Amino acid sequence: MPTALITGASRGIGAAMTRELTARSFDTIGTSTKGGDGLYPLDVTDPQGPAALAQTLSGTPIDLLVCNAGLYLDQGQSLATGYPAEMWAKEFAVNITGVFLTVQAFLPALRAAQGKIAIISSQMASHTRAPGGSYIYRSSKAAALNLGRNLATDLRPEGIAVGIYHPGWVKTDMGGAGAEITPEAAATGLSDRFDALSIATTGCFETWDGRDHAY
Ligand SMILES: NC(=O)c1ccc[n+]([C@@H]2O[C@H](COP(=O)([O-])OP(=O)(O)OC[C@H]3O[C@@H](n4cnc5c(N)ncnc54)[C@H](OP(=O)(O)O)[C@@H]3O)[C@@H](O)[C@H]2O)c1
Repeated sequence: MPTALITGASRGIGAAMTRELTARSFDTIGTSTKGGDGLYPLDVTDPQGPAALAQTLSGTPIDLLVCNAGLYLDQGQSLATGYPAEMWAKEFAVNITGVFLTVQAFLPALRAAQGKIAIISSQMASHTRAPGGSYIYRSSKAAALNLGRNLATDLRPEGIAVGIYHPGWVKTDMGGAGAEITPEAAATGLSDRFDALSIATTGCFETWDGRDHAY
């Protein structure tokens, strides 16, 4: 049975993906900041957090690593007076440093399975689509896209494919009740994308429903 590790599995898209991947016969390992309810504790902003979890899992080969944990604090901030430095630090710690540390900690486990890496970025990562505002979230998700593209180059020789995804505008705590799709629809579409991801498509930036996204 293949194993999938999903960060931020306590709610929203991460919880739905964990259910969907379990239904697709993955052995799933979900994480949340507090742990409990069958989830492993992982705060991706703790510099030792991902490495400590990798140690707890003692080398279990990982076929699919889904870097899903994310934070969006700067919605509606004022350009003139908002976006304090502390907000930049908090959001970047989760959305980009946390992704890198998680990938780094689980590289041996990914190598053991010749696994795949899925980074949940956003359409807000796109440079060509730039409606303004939400500067911290947009730039952190753009950094996650860039990280994924460069990891794809470095890990290609090892047969480890990396995909970067926009999950849709999803009805979660982050997306809000007015969003377009359910977490279940996002999870189904994303799981199809993970299935299709290969060395031939490594470095792709795709939407949950299978379209190439503009960079
Ligand atoms: N919803 C959308 O419309 C949308 C659109 C584009 C992209 N995305 C991206 O999709 C991903 C999931 O979003 P969502 O809508 O499901 O968000 P959500 O409902 O707010 O859930 C966020 C998840 O991230 C976890 N998390 C937050 N800070 C963390 C930390 N320091 N360490 C570890 N885990 C942490 C949370 O864990 P706790 O419960 O333990 O706090 C929770 O499981 C995010 O990367 C988000 O940026 C979402």
